[in-house]
Amino acid sequence: MVEAPLWERPTMRAVAGNTLRPGGFSITDRAAEFIGMLPGWRVLDVGCGLGATMHRLRARFGARTYGVELSASQLAQTGDTAGMVMAAGDRLPFRADLFHALFCECVFSLLDDRRSALRHTHRVLRPGGFLVLSDLCAEDAGTPEADSCAGRAGPLSDTRRLVAQCGLDILLVEDHSPRLRELAAQLAFAGESGGGGSCGGRLGYFLMIARKPEVTNAG
Ligand SMILES: C[S@@+](CC[C@H](N)C(=O)[O-])C[C@H]1O[C@@H](n2cnc3c(N)ncnc32)[C@H](O)[C@@H]1O
Repeated sequence: MVEAPLWERPTMRAVAGNTLRPGGFSITDRAAEFIGMLPGWRVLDVGCGLGATMHRLRARFGARTYGVELSASQLAQTGDTAGMVMAAGDRLPFRADLFHALFCECVFSLLDDRRSALRHTHRVLRPGGFLVLSDLCAEDAGTPEADSCAGRAGPLSDTRRLVAQCGLDILLVEDHSPRLRELAAQLAFAGESGGGGSCGGRLGYFLMIARKPEVTNAG
């Protein structure tokens, strides 16, 4: 029998609640404060999982939130699916220049075409809009066909290069690896063999914030 991915297992829910990532809301709040999120901002959460970040950004910052999620089972477990659409994170079904911010938390390494995802990100962000990207990174190249964030994560320098190549200006890169180690320890303590152990060693966790330039030079 094929094992469910870590984020769909009961142990992950028991340990992390609805935030299926390291750090819970701490990194989310840090990012929202850094970008100066204001009430009424349109914010897209790519790979929104159970919608925890959408709910948080509505309740705490007054954002108007939208979500994209590929998994029918994640959507089915979500009580409130308002603003969510089922779609792939590397082909965003939204018009250009729409969002003040786009969050992508613990999802980027799972996307099949990361360059396409960043091109779509650039397209759907308003001029001056922000990308908030948090994810695992690894010392060595990941395995594209792996079915876990841990297995697919690659070097942070690759992500930096790709973000810049797609026309986004990087404003901040922070190391949040201690949050990954905390989650790994909690998972291991809860008896999760498939995720806890693999979260250590070669892996780290980062927050990157980038911005679409206010004026895009044509040509
Ligand atoms: C580790 S969970 C993180 C969920 C959420 N961002 C959070 O932090 O709670 C990864 C999520 O990405 C979703 N996902 C995986 N591949 C995707 C894709 N190609 N497009 C959109 N979502 C995807 C999974 O279904 C899952 O909900």
